[in-house]
Amino acid sequence: MRSGERTGPTAPPSAATDRWDALAAVYRVQEPLEARSLAVLLDALTVRAEEAVLDVGTGTGAVPRALARRGRPAEATTVAVDSSPRMLALAARVAGVETRQGDATGLPVPTGSVDVATAAWLLHVLPAPDRVRAVAELVRVLRPGGRLGLVVPAAPRSPGQRLLRAAALRAAGGLGAFRVPEDLPALLADHGLRVRRHRRTGLGYLADVVVCTREPGRGVG
Ligand SMILES: C[S@@+](CC[C@H](N)C(=O)[O-])C[C@H]1O[C@@H](n2cnc3c(N)ncnc32)[C@H](O)[C@@H]1O
Repeated sequence: MRSGERTGPTAPPSAATDRWDALAAVYRVQEPLEARSLAVLLDALTVRAEEAVLDVGTGTGAVPRALARRGRPAEATTVAVDSSPRMLALAARVAGVETRQGDATGLPVPTGSVDVATAAWLLHVLPAPDRVRAVAELVRVLRPGGRLGLVVPAAPRSPGQRLLRAAALRAAGGLGAFRVPEDLPALLADHGLRVRRHRRTGLGYLADVVVCTREPGRGVG
């Protein structure tokens, strides 16, 4: 994944970025609750060492860290994008991570350069129009046949799940945490993404884990 080729438009810094920046120092405290969803995601993606990997909305680098723990070699660079400089500073500590500050709606990544893109716990925090742009960008950067792995919140079903979600919502202070992105299935279909795997995880945060492929001949580029 070379830099310097065409990339998406860049978005201006926002108030949301400041709020994610403010959360960065404590974000890792709740990451054990994400762990199961990320494990399911990586089991489904089966990333090979030679594949170019991009993690969007990387936060402290939870996905690249989980990949490294699974044996992804440090020389197999994983590009990690986030709009929050403080989150990225933490992600930069993960072996093999190359951080790029940028917005999901205008990724600083060349068209068709990525084999595997992930966006874990990101799409639901974006306003709906940005979610559309972010999916379009993920499709743009994927090579035809490339894989996209997503983790988004699923609706709680039991009283225990509802309590956990209410606590997390209070802690996140209105950053869109745990809002279920109801528009996602239509969004994926509209962008030529075919769903290959869909699993719901209930250990830790309740999540929908979705793996899609960018169908050849669809998307930009
Ligand atoms: C809920 S956290 C998830 C972090 C990580 N993926 C994980 O699973 O732990 C959302 C992350 O997305 C980043 N983010 C929010 N809006 C973004 C945007 N428009 N573009 C890029 N990153 C964004 C935040 O700074 C934050 O680090």
